[in-house]
Amino acid sequence: PRSFTARCSLVSRPEYFPSHISDPGYVRIFDTTLRDGEQSPGATMTSNEKLATAHLLSCLGVDIIEAGFPASSPDDLEAVRSIAIEVGNKPAEDGHLPVICGLARCNKKDIDAAWEAVRHARRPRVHTFIATSEIHMHHKLRKSREEVVRIAREMVGYAKSLGCQDIEFSPEDAGRSDHEFLYHVLEEVIKAGATTLNIPDTVGYTLPDEFGQLISDIKTNTKGIENVVISTHCQNDLGLATANTLAGARAGARQLEVTVNGIGERAGNASLEEVVMAIRCRNQILEGLHTGINTKYIHSASKMVAEYSGLNVQPHKAIVGANAFAHESGIHQDGMLKFKGTYEIISPDDIGLFRSNESGIVLGKLSGRHALKSKLTELGYDISGKELDDIFKRFKDIAEKKKACN
Ligand code: KIV
Repeated sequence: PRSFTARCSLVSRPEYFPSHISDPGYVRIFDTTLRDGEQSPGATMTSNEKLATAHLLSCLGVDIIEAGFPASSPDDLEAVRSIAIEVGNKPAEDGHLPVICGLARCNKKDIDAAWEAVRHARRPRVHTFIATSEIHMHHKLRKSREEVVRIAREMVGYAKSLGCQDIEFSPEDAGRSDHEFLYHVLEEVIKAGATTLNIPDTVGYTLPDEFGQLISDIKTNTKGIENVVISTHCQNDLGLATANTLAGARAGARQLEVTVNGIGERAGNASLEEVVMAIRCRNQILEGLHTGINTKYIHSASKMVAEYSGLNVQPHKAIVGANAFAHESGIHQDGMLKFKGTYEIISPDDIGLFRSNESGIVLGKLSGRHALKSKLTELGYDISGKELDDIFKRFKDIAEKKKACN
């Protein structure tokens, strides 16, 4: 829809299909808003809403769009298929064409449905998963380690036999899996044809150092890993999804799974806007990592996903919350009026947010004279001296009894 659009600018990105990494610092952004995000309680979207969101994700420059879980319902299969046909065959303005991905458990029925839905895209991907932690294998799958390895290997091979060349495999609950066992499963699926290995911290259990170490250990100990892309998928149960994702990227992951506004199961997923802006803002400390995201679309994407999913963004949410670029206290306002960099590390323009008031100043009981004067000037009143003192006193009397406003 028109209200969500912003202008595309050119970004260059390496060729990434099949999975060779030509630019060592390039981090692919895998967006799962339409799959894991849609799994948030109450976030179901219509097929048209999913399609419109996928178009915007493509403009945003997302490398891989996980469009849904086709085996979950005929409607979802149709939604993924139409995204594959329309978005997966129409290059964005910058010329890039996103990979369209469908999720499948490690069984033939799911893989058939996923392949049937995504195969219409020029760059189709099947993403298949099976749990590898003791707690999941024992209580949920009721399968032994040997059975899990066999199923994983056979199902990756099955996806390949259908003609799918881009296959992602996830050992679900990797964050709580035995490391030696994990290396073994990963080696087997690489041999069977997996091209991306995604490492999910399914229950958001790990701490950043721990998750970074896990990625680094997998990189060191898994035979054949140099031929595939390592990916992260961090849930936010302890509020650490973004930190864990960045730790994974520093340790060598070159695909990061995220959702717009961080929506997803329970406490959600690593949020696209936080991960992308952290990589952009702290590029040097992150050793030159970069993404192909056109950040000017972030604000529009956030608005669209909030509207379609019905999940409002909390005001203090990093990057896209209503208060992320607002300043109420007098000290901060004074700093902002002198130089924006005093209290803003990102320019709102960078995410496509055009503030009605340039400085983001919100008047409230903590505001000072400087801010009030600037607001009056903005409204066309040139007031100073005794008159300003008088207005400031009356403003403070009212502000103490009211909520802030801009
Ligand atoms: O959280 C998880 O483990 C997942 C996988 C399917 C990647 O969503």
